[in-house]
Amino acid sequence: MLRIAPSVLSADFGNLAEAVGEVAPEADWLHVDVMDGHFVPNITIGPPVVRSLRKHSGLFFDCHLMVTDPGDYLEAFRDAGADGCTVHVEVGNTAALLAQARDLGLQAGLAVNPETPYEAIDPFLDQADLILCMTVHPGFGGQAFIEDVLPKIARTRAELDRRGLSAELEVDGGIDERTAPAVVRAGARVLVAGSAIFGAERSWEAARGLRAAAVAALQDGAGQAAK
Ligand code: DX5
Ligand code: ZN
Repeated sequence: MLRIAPSVLSADFGNLAEAVGEVAPEADWLHVDVMDGHFVPNITIGPPVVRSLRKHSGLFFDCHLMVTDPGDYLEAFRDAGADGCTVHVEVGNTAALLAQARDLGLQAGLAVNPETPYEAIDPFLDQADLILCMTVHPGFGGQAFIEDVLPKIARTRAELDRRGLSAELEVDGGIDERTAPAVVRAGARVLVAGSAIFGAERSWEAARGLRAAAVAALQDGAGQAAK
């Protein structure tokens, strides 16, 4: 199972509903980047925008909370129509935050920054429904993919499989047709892409192209394994 999650961060904020509608036929999830100007040096969107978008889209809303105090906002995002909320391991209080998200009926995600080692997330793999390995420093779209994260993705995949855990493994940052094969080979199965999709003339076509590149890498990997 492979999912494409366009990030609305790179969409036209003045025409969000239209932008989401255009990409929807080729999107599995919608990735919503929430930034508080504190955990990251940028401010984006909050529950009111999620609530408004909810009226226009039935997609799974995958909300990525790049905020210092996510516990103060999980309920508001749930009430606004979020399906999943991902908190960063760097903000601490991880077990309680994941439990709070699950108690609210949200899919509970745990994100890890590029420079944070795998060991930081290891104790929480069985408490999360999704692990998000950041492949750029969070805060802005359009940055270059950080290849050094690949071993952490592979290690996370190996540990999830070894423990028989079914958490999703997501990557976010600098993902495009060129970088997708490597993350898929490392074990990622949810691909977030902002600029590669919404920066294209036809976002749905770009999402389709990204999926094709990812699926080809997956099949290639399966072929190698069978040899
Ligand atoms: C970055 C955000 C990403 C961002 C990715 O802090 O978490 O979701 O939208 O954008 P691209 O795909 O352009 O790197
Ligand atoms: Zn994100």
